[in-house]
Amino acid sequence: MYLGLDLGTSGIKAMLVDDDFATIGVAHAPLTVSRPHPGWSEQDPADWIAGAEKVIGDLARQHPEAMARLRAIGLSGHMHGATLLDRADQVLRPCILWNDGRSGPQCAELAARADFHGIAGNLVMAGFTAPKLLWVAENEPEIFERTAKVLLPKDYLRLWLTGEHVGEMSDAAGTLWLDVARRDWSDELLAATGLDRAQMPTLVEGSDVSGRLRADLAERWGVARVPVAGGGGDNAATACGMGVMVPGTGFLSLGTSGVLFAATETYAPNTGDAVHTFCHAVPATWHQMGVILSATDSMTWLSEITGRTVPELAAMVPENVAAPSPVGFLPYLSGERTPLNDPDATGAFWGLRRATGLADLSQSVMEGVAFAFADCVHALRKAGTPIEAAYAVGGGARSRAWLRIMASATGLTLLEPEDGDFGAAFGAAKLAAACATGDTSARIFAPPAVRAEIAPDAALAAAYAKKYEAYRAAYPQLKALPDSRA
Ligand code: XUL
Repeated sequence: MYLGLDLGTSGIKAMLVDDDFATIGVAHAPLTVSRPHPGWSEQDPADWIAGAEKVIGDLARQHPEAMARLRAIGLSGHMHGATLLDRADQVLRPCILWNDGRSGPQCAELAARADFHGIAGNLVMAGFTAPKLLWVAENEPEIFERTAKVLLPKDYLRLWLTGEHVGEMSDAAGTLWLDVARRDWSDELLAATGLDRAQMPTLVEGSDVSGRLRADLAERWGVARVPVAGGGGDNAATACGMGVMVPGTGFLSLGTSGVLFAATETYAPNTGDAVHTFCHAVPATWHQMGVILSATDSMTWLSEITGRTVPELAAMVPENVAAPSPVGFLPYLSGERTPLNDPDATGAFWGLRRATGLADLSQSVMEGVAFAFADCVHALRKAGTPIEAAYAVGGGARSRAWLRIMASATGLTLLEPEDGDFGAAFGAAKLAAACATGDTSARIFAPPAVRAEIAPDAALAAAYAKKYEAYRAAYPQLKALPDSRA
């Protein structure tokens, strides 16, 4: 038995699988994001622990015999968050999340201080951890002074589970302090942020043992003091669940964020078009990805402002969309990473008429997100990673209409995995298995069988090619408008 724990932006999930990776039980607890200022996005780490207590406690109550046979735990979580701890491991401020754009002004300054592009292999982007620490140093100096450790969100859960300060390569790569080729902290990049190695957790590979479950928790849940695997950032962990480990394989994730992920067998950075280049969660493997900040979050936003649920909005879109919505949409509600690297980019609707209805808006939101993915396809191609097909995962992938729109807008053939739950929690459970058995082969990281292939529809793709031109033209024109907040 293996347990995967995934700390997602909108909820935490625990998944118990048997030694053949069949699901024994799943438990969820919701999480919320607080946005105290426009462009900010924070969570209280205490809520993560409360959520983890609940979901693991639920599994322990519902499956006591299976839990008694637990062999290892794997962790996954949303990337880039800055969890700041003092010397006594007390949290100093709410965690600043991956989709928080406040550190935009710090990025250029940081990039000028050291060779982040060369060593970390990535642009200095506002969502990453390093510029957030510069923001804290400049705006909350007393907190910066007291910061004894900086942990990524899932690594804070590990501290609670094991008492150890440990991180792993895939998530550490998203801090901008990792020498991504050498898979070690870079003293130079840390110093450029006013930090040093002592403030970082020690590093293991995602498939290595990072520590053992604390005795009191083991007793509470009726499990042994099992090893906790390094685990992975949520995207690398999802890849582990989908068997996306070797070049030529990829996935498209329609979660709160949107990710187009491709495994690479070497460190292959390309900062053009804000492509992300990170370590994978198993040794000597890397990956590239395009990341958009508001994928299903765009539908969540529409749901919040209209008072309709997301399923209600999704049901307004025909399953076989025949023509583009007359309305255009830019999904930059939290700024954008790939390809714009612009934390101040904003969303927009255009083409509104008196006859426009909510169904048009719902479809246009799905289309705008699909065009953002088309940008990622182009960005990865330019970075030397041609991608023609990808597994479709994440909550949004449950909408067949959205997948059809996505295939025709991006030109990708989308592979729908057979029934099952192949998200980050599943990947974390596989990393737990790798850590317990020492096996990182395709035996553990096998791809799922494909239930359906959703190929682009020629007529719709032609119509979307025209609409994509308008989409591409909209952002620079909007950017030129004066900011009405000023
Ligand atoms: C990746 C990214 C998001 C988060 C949240 O760079 O910022 O995908 O990991 O899921």
